[in-house]
Amino acid sequence: MKTTPENFSKTQIYLHWLVVALVTFQFVLSKGIEAIWEKRMDGLVPNEPSANPHVIIGAVILTLVLWRLWLRFNHGVPALPQSEKPLIGLIAKATHWLFYILLIGMPLSGAGAWVLGIEQPAFTHGLASKSLLALIALHAAAALYHHFILKTNVFRRMLGIK
Ligand code: HEM
Ligand code: HEM
Repeated sequence: MKTTPENFSKTQIYLHWLVVALVTFQFVLSKGIEAIWEKRMDGLVPNEPSANPHVIIGAVILTLVLWRLWLRFNHGVPALPQSEKPLIGLIAKATHWLFYILLIGMPLSGAGAWVLGIEQPAFTHGLASKSLLALIALHAAAALYHHFILKTNVFRRMLGIK
């Protein structure tokens, strides 16, 4: 049942940082799949899906994000600090939901391109990757702003520290 707990559970915290690490991997090491994709589109290799670390890690991210959503609905998430301005709180919530949309949409669009061998989902995938990067920058800056300027416990609670 959904509640408003005091803190994120240990599993929610581990999953957050594991997904951060895996998403970082996807960005840093996307050159490999991009190179194969271009060869497929240029007809230099057969236009068929093959096993690739980017695809496997992408599928793992999708599974972990679905698990996180399940935990969100069952365990719940702590409320935003009382001091949070309503507009900023709304932006924080919208950012979190947009993360979930992008982290589900990206593996699906990637799989659409990879399996069907067509450009359109790959274009969406590339566009989504840029939005995700912008969102990560905004989100990380907000977390650090909370910690160093507003001096709330928002960053500490995602580290499991009181
Ligand atoms: C959350 C999971 C994923 C992330 C964060 C991610 C991220 C990325 C990034 C950053 C690029 C380079 C895009 C560019 O610079 O234009 C890329 C390319 C690509 N990815 Fe993913 N990816 C994910 C999941 C997947 C999955 C599951 C598949 C396939 C089943 C896939 C297939 C592709 C393909 C085919 C390309 C090359 C085409 C393109 O550049 O759009 N991705 N991905
Ligand atoms: C790939 C990068 C990242 C993704 C996809 C991501 C995603 C998310 C999501 C979806 C939430 C909301 C959890 C929920 O309520 O269900 C969240 C919370 C949080 N994230 Fe991230 N995050 C990323 C990187 C970071 C980084 C780099 C930092 C720190 C600099 C950070 C700090 C936090 C904090 C402090 C919270 C808790 C916010 C709160 O308690 O309201 N995240 N993150």
